[in-house]
Amino acid sequence: MNLLMRSKICCLCSICIAYASIFIANALTFAETAITSAPSKVEKSDSESAQRGYRVLTEKAVLSSDFTQEVFDNLWQCWPESLRLKAEAASAKQRREMAFARYGLTPRPETPEKPLQYVVDDNGNWTMNCFSCHGGSVYGMPFPGAPNNRFALQTLTEEIRKTKFKLGKPLSRMDVGSLVIPLGTTNGTTNAVVFGMGLMSQRDEDLNIVTAAPQKFMHHDMDAPAWWNFHKKPSIYIDGFAQKGHRGLMQFMMIPENGRDFFLNHEEDFRDVYAYISSLRPPQYPGKIDAMMAEQGRVVFEQTCAECHGTYGSTPTYPNRRIAINDIGTDPVRLNALEVEGRKKYARSWFAHANEDEEQTTVVDPDGYVAPALDGIWASAPYFHNGSVPTLWHLLNPSKRPTVWRPVSEAFDNEKVGLTTEVKLKVPFDELDAAVRRSYFDTTRFGKSNIGHDYPAELADAERRAVLEYLKTL
Ligand code: HEC
Ligand code: HEC
Repeated sequence: MNLLMRSKICCLCSICIAYASIFIANALTFAETAITSAPSKVEKSDSESAQRGYRVLTEKAVLSSDFTQEVFDNLWQCWPESLRLKAEAASAKQRREMAFARYGLTPRPETPEKPLQYVVDDNGNWTMNCFSCHGGSVYGMPFPGAPNNRFALQTLTEEIRKTKFKLGKPLSRMDVGSLVIPLGTTNGTTNAVVFGMGLMSQRDEDLNIVTAAPQKFMHHDMDAPAWWNFHKKPSIYIDGFAQKGHRGLMQFMMIPENGRDFFLNHEEDFRDVYAYISSLRPPQYPGKIDAMMAEQGRVVFEQTCAECHGTYGSTPTYPNRRIAINDIGTDPVRLNALEVEGRKKYARSWFAHANEDEEQTTVVDPDGYVAPALDGIWASAPYFHNGSVPTLWHLLNPSKRPTVWRPVSEAFDNEKVGLTTEVKLKVPFDELDAAVRRSYFDTTRFGKSNIGHDYPAELADAERRAVLEYLKTL
């Protein structure tokens, strides 16, 4: 059994320890792991369901195929010259690694020649799966459920289109759709919420396909949240507007090829996907932690942060508190992009009615964002719902957040706790390679602001350092 298909019990011990030891083997300047947590009990049936869920995600195509192996293997031919020459001289395996790196794909642990992010069938058809946004790596080590902070969907789609033209292959829905809806302007973030709205606008509440007038959407990119906190949350999304349920997880499948029956026939699969997501737990910080400083940090955290983010340790609490947008002050575009009418339609729809006995209902007019649970927060950079802040140090020092930055390697910045970045005054206007241009996060653009959440500003420097140390223990 591979590591990733194990569920709760294993996630808490084996995966984390396995990954911790791989981290250490990779000598990411970490010392031994000091923190452990007790495995919680899981029913066997839950864990079998979770294992099936992982297989549904990686092996079952629920959308029409995006491209073929042949197209993927020829992508390098449209790369900028210097890369192309390198690819030409490389072995097939090296070329695949170059392509994975360029588009933010990671090898699947059990079959490294296949990416975690696409289902690849026996005929070589590639179909995007949920891991494209939700299955990334934690500083270079693939870790399902970690946000994929390197996914380059826009660049991949553009280069797929060019390659298909060259090979005389037909375009897919994604290839054509992306001419109308932007997919994501910064690597690691996507316009995912608008994809959902666009698809929903073509259906009635009972999933029947309807012809609707073209709608205007507020395009904006988001950083996918880590899946390992799903088990803690009573409701989902950054504004917490939607109740949990396996049906809600199926929105991504609303392409016109999938009629109402397709959804009804796949409920069991998505109960398993639900079990899989619920089984995930965060990776533990594998480096050295200054226990005394972390303890001081805990005290400050419990005074300053816990009212919103909850408490951690042996008896954790999670308040699931929504903070009004004027108070939190982070980028408001995501909140405003979903209008009350759209949320009301969601509330009436099939997606919102998976568990009729549950208390949670759709919140049709949320006034702000819900403070996320911070378990494994060291591993899910960048921060905020739009991914605008590269490290926890920057999050804790609001006046020092960079305006334009980009990751320069996959190495973990263990001082600032987050991505290793370079800071620029502007995105270089003469950068011709779109893949490089999109590696810059420009906080001056629409929906990408890094302001707000000024709560840490009231702390003294020493308190901030202590809180940073404490955050590593979560
Ligand atoms: C194109 C990228 C993308 C793909 C593909 C995608 N998601 Fe997401 N997902 C996101 C983003 C971005 C959010 C955050 C949305 C928000 O908060 O408004 C999200 C949120 C979620 C959440 C809520 C998590 C939380 O803590 O609130 C769940 C659960 C989820 N997705 C499951 C899935 C499943 C299951 C699939 C596949 C069927 C999937 N996603 C495919 C980008 C994606
Ligand atoms: C009044 C409530 C509130 C307080 C107090 C508060 N936060 Fe937050 N925090 C939030 C909300 C809401 C968000 C989500 C903001 C967003 O993504 O736009 C957030 C986001 C974060 C994030 C980023 C999470 C992620 O997944 O990207 C971190 C880290 C964080 N807070 C740490 C802290 C720390 C440390 C403190 C104390 C010094 C603190 N917060 C105090 C409400 C609060």
